[in-house]
Amino acid sequence: MARPRLTFLATKTAKWIVGLLLAIPLLLLLNDVRIELFDPGARLGPNPGDILVDRLGTWSIRTLYLTLLVSSISRIFKIPVLVQHRRTCGLFAFTYVVLHFTAYLAAILGFDFNTLLGDFSKRPYIIFGMIALLLLIPLAITSTRGWRKRLKLNWKRLHRLIYLIAVLALIHLWMQERSTYTDTVIYASILVLLLVERIIHALRQRMARSKTSSAPS
Ligand code: HEM
Repeated sequence: MARPRLTFLATKTAKWIVGLLLAIPLLLLLNDVRIELFDPGARLGPNPGDILVDRLGTWSIRTLYLTLLVSSISRIFKIPVLVQHRRTCGLFAFTYVVLHFTAYLAAILGFDFNTLLGDFSKRPYIIFGMIALLLLIPLAITSTRGWRKRLKLNWKRLHRLIYLIAVLALIHLWMQERSTYTDTVIYASILVLLLVERIIHALRQRMARSKTSSAPS
C-alpha cells in the first residue's frame, strides 16, 4: 500500500512544484541578464558571456546527474512514485544543455559557425559536450509515454545512453578545469556512487530471479 504522506508526490501539483524548482536557476539567471542590460557589469562581471555559459553549464550537469539520482533515491528509500519526476529532471537537463550551447554560440562565437569548427581543435572539450548534446536529443524526443510503449524493451536500451552522456559531460568538465579539479572530483564521485548503486540493484534482481526460478513449484 502506498504510504499516505507520499501519495502527494504522484500528483500533478507535485510535478509542477518540481518543474518550478528546477526553473529557479534559469529565472535567476534571466533576471541577472535583465539587470545586466541596464547596468553592465552589475551581475555578470566583466565577461558576461563567459559567466552565462558557465552558469548554464553548471546547471546542465547538475540537472543531468539529478536525473540519475532520482532513480537511486527511489530505490534506496523505496519510494517508487519518485520515478515519475525523472522525466521532468531529464527535460530540464536537456533544456539547460541547449541553452548552454546557445549561449556559447551567441555570446562567445557570435553565431560564427566557422569558429565553431575551429574550436573543436582549439578546445577539444567542446567535442565531448557536442556528442553529449546530440545523444540527449533522441532521449528527450522519446521521453513520452507514447514512445515508451512503442519502443518497449528498446526504450530502456536507448535510455541507457544517459550513462554515456553523464561520462561525456564529466570528461567535458575535466578537460576544461585549470588549476584545481574539485568539480570534476565531486561529480566523478557522485557518478561512481550512482553506478555502484545500479550494479548492486542489478545483482540483487538477478539473485531474486534465480531464487524464484530454482524454488520448488
Ligand atoms: C551534456 C552536455 C553538456 C554539459 C553537461 C556541460 C557542462 C558544462 C560545465 C559543468 C561547464 C563548466 C562550468 C563552470 O566552469 O562553471 C561547462 C563549460 C563550458 N561548456 Fe559545456 N556542457 C555540455 C555541452 C556543451 C556544448 C554542446 C558546448 C558547445 C558546443 C559546450 C561549451 C562549453 C563552454 C565553451 C564552456 C566554458 C569553458 C570555459 O569556461 O572556458 N558545452 N559545460
